[in-house]
This record gives sequence, C-alpha cells and structure tokens, in this order.
Amino acid sequence: MAGPHMDQTGVLEGPEGPEPENELKRALGPLHLIALGIGAIIGAGIFVITGHAAASYAGPGVVISFAIAGTGCLFAGLCYAEYAAMIPVAGSAYTYTFATLGRFMAWFIGWNLVLEYLAAASTVAVGWAGYFNDLMRYLGVTIPAKFASAPLCVATDVHCPIYNAHATGIDAIHHLGTTGTFFNLPAVALIALVTMVLIVGVHLSANFNNAMVAIKLCIVVLVIAAGLPHVVAANQTPFIPANTGTWGNFGWSGVLRATGVIFFAYIGFDAVSVAAQEARRPQRDVPIGILGSLLICTVLYMLMSYVLTGLASYTTLNVAHPVSMATSSIPETRWLSPFVNVGAVVGLASVVLVLILGQSRIFYAMGKDGMIPGLFCSVHPRFRTPWKGTVITGVFAAILAGALPLDILGELVSIGTLLAFVIVCFGVMVLRIRRPRAIRPFRTPIVWVVAPLGIIMCGAMMSWLPADTWLRLLAWTVIGIIIFAVYGMHHAKAPRWAILDAPAAAE
Ligand code: ALA
Repeated sequence: MAGPHMDQTGVLEGPEGPEPENELKRALGPLHLIALGIGAIIGAGIFVITGHAAASYAGPGVVISFAIAGTGCLFAGLCYAEYAAMIPVAGSAYTYTFATLGRFMAWFIGWNLVLEYLAAASTVAVGWAGYFNDLMRYLGVTIPAKFASAPLCVATDVHCPIYNAHATGIDAIHHLGTTGTFFNLPAVALIALVTMVLIVGVHLSANFNNAMVAIKLCIVVLVIAAGLPHVVAANQTPFIPANTGTWGNFGWSGVLRATGVIFFAYIGFDAVSVAAQEARRPQRDVPIGILGSLLICTVLYMLMSYVLTGLASYTTLNVAHPVSMATSSIPETRWLSPFVNVGAVVGLASVVLVLILGQSRIFYAMGKDGMIPGLFCSVHPRFRTPWKGTVITGVFAAILAGALPLDILGELVSIGTLLAFVIVCFGVMVLRIRRPRAIRPFRTPIVWVVAPLGIIMCGAMMSWLPADTWLRLLAWTVIGIIIFAVYGMHHAKAPRWAILDAPAAAE
C-alpha cells in the first residue's frame, strides 16, 4: 500500500521518500490518545506560570482564566484535528499549511511554531530549574545563586531590582533589569542532557509516556485532594482583587490578561491531532482524545489553581516553584512539598524532551522543503536522527533558557502559538471552500461556528497579552520575513504532500 511511512527519525515520508521502516499502525484507542494529550499538556503552565499569573494579574480569579483558555483551546483543537487527519505527517501545522495555503503562509506558521516548540522548551526548562533548585535545597545541596536563575528580568517582576509595580506593557520593555546572576545553569544542563538523549535516539514508547502521565497526574490530584480541605477563605477574598487602575492589573481585565498568559498550560494538545493517523478510529477517537484531555486538564487546572490561591496568598506566588511554596505555607500540607518537587522535576523534564523532539522534526520537515538549509534534515549515519537540527535546536533553547526569565518566555510562546491556531482555524474554512471533496478522516463539527469561535477566542487571548509581548512578536515576525526573503523564497520546493480528493463515486 502506497501510504506514508515513518522513518527512523520519526519523520513521515511519502512513497517517494527514504526507505520505509515501518507502516504506521492504527493502534491508538481513545484512552491512549487522552493519555498522550495529558502527557504533552501538563507542565510548567500549571506548575509555575499559574503562580506568576495569579500574583501579577488575576489573583484567585486565575481559576476563571483557566476556564476561558480551555474553551478557546477546545475550538482550535477541533479545527486542528481536521487538518491533522487530512495530512497526518510530521511537521504539524507547518506541513498542513504548506500543502494547503502555500509557501509564505507555511513559512509564517513554521516560524511561529518555533516559538511554540523551541521557546516553550526553554520556558519549561526554566520552570524545571525552579523545582530542581528547591529539591536540591531540600536534599541539602544549594546551587550557587549566581548560576541558579536568569541574568535578565522585567520591571514588572517583584523580584527584579528595578521593580516598578506601575511599569506596564511598553514601559516594561524599556525596563529590562539585570539580576546580577550569570546564567541559569540547571536549565541549560537539562536542555543539554535532553538534546544528547534525542541525538542518540530515544524510543518514546507508550509505556514511558504513560508512566510520566501517571506521575504528573498523581501529584496534581494529590495536591488537590490534600489541599482542598485546608483552603483559607481569607486568601480568596475578594476572589477577583480590585483593579489597580491599569488595564490587566487585577480586576476583570486582569483575569483576561491572565487567560493569555496561562494559555501556555494548554499547549501540547495538538499532539493528539498529530497522532490522528495512528488512531484506530480517527473520526471518533481523535475528538475524544482532544476533548477528553482538554476537559480533564481544564478541571484539574481550575481545581489546582483554586487550591494554590487558597493555601497561600496570591501575592506570594510569584516564585520559581509556586506549588511546593503553597503546600509548604501551612503545616497541614507541608509534607507534600518534596513529592511535588520530585513530580515536577520528572514531569517537566519529559515535556522538554517532547518539545525539543517536536522542534527538531519541524525543522527537519522545513529543511526537506528547502525553507531552511539542508543541514536541518541531515540524518546521523549511525543514530538515524536529525542530529544537526537537534543540536541547533538545543543550542538556541539553551541560550534562551539560560538568559531569559520565565515570564518573558512564556508570554512569547503563548502569543506565537495563538497566532498559529488562528491561522489553522482560518485554513480549515478556506479548505472547506477550495477543496470540498477532499478526504477528511475527521471533520470539525459545525465548522462555520467552531472555526470562527476559535479565531475570536484565540485572537482575544492574544489581544489580552501585554504590549511588550506584541512588540516581541512583531520583532520575531520581521526577522522571520527577512530570513524567508533571503533564503526560503529562493530555495523552497513544491509541497511534498498533496491533499487527496474522495473518488467521485464515494461522494
Ligand atoms: N503545556 C505545557 C506546559 O505547561 C507546554 O509545560
């Protein structure tokens, strides 16, 4: 059968591509897909960014932010699934866009996916470092302060030497402070380790993923179950702290701004849609996987953020390890802290691994298409992995993780990913018009309602992010367009994948 195959690099190839290694098996049922989604979703978003979002923007109202962000992801996820099932190959939304909307849009989305994967890997590594440092402290080993955190900080961060509660948006970009440290050594070390593992070749078996999911889920459920009875009502009164007079600083506008920030916590559900071709019954199981993992994570995130802001005052949560900070703030839950640290260290490391793996495969697909130099798709003769692309990904991820604080990174990742989702929702509607007869193993239900709602909600979450994040996105886009004009435009080949139309008789 002339279908797509997966080579040893984990990259799908068409019949004309390299020697097929193994036919993709339709082995994944709904529970596998839900586990896959939860495994990719739960990470630094809930373990770290929730603390920043509560302390800086929403207070306990961050619970509401999680509900809003989850709903937006739901709409985008359903559109993603239609795309993914049509062209279920490596490269994620980049590949689908290349085959459907042309070179420039493909480059544009691929460039934003670099934010989703590469910058997110750095973000999660920074989050991981916070828990790792706390775990080491618990074990009696102190990482020297000069090497424990980023040398740069923003004025809106209470820990920044130039902290200014009233610096907002554009002000904050002019107020980048220095913390006096050299670089975040644990975050860099984790990325170096993960990069090496990925070069040598890692077999991400379903069992490995299931073990990770189990550990993360157990910790989250444990914190919720043990923390709920001890929630202190005074910490959550008022539930939405009064606005400070600046848009986004508490009040309802703060809840909305926090929605864009904690959106990071939901990134990863697209992993379910990418597995569409391996699903036993994609039409039924992919939506179950997306909806199931999103629903479970939304409920867990709402409960977890409720517990965190209930155990400790939201004003104290802007730390590198807010969950163990909150559990250790009252005697009744203090015993949980070491478990939280161990769970976060294991769970967040696995997310970094999946993100760097994803980025190197997106680079691989872009390299194959001539969008970026061919070295990104050069495969190691022995390990059969795209090692040069992986090393480059690791080096850039390490530089970002070593130098930048989590809030700058996380917000940049959120805005880039949201933009990619807006394009996906748009692309699905364009294709319904341009290619009505294309084979769609999964069809977005009521697409003319779901896709516009996805665009509106993701666009709104973008608009709620601080102005300096928009400026960084603009700078990123300009750099991307220059690279495309200098390289991609002249070297990009025709798409390797085409969308197949259903035979007339089947219509
Ligand atoms: N959603 C993932 C996380 O929160 C990226 O770490």
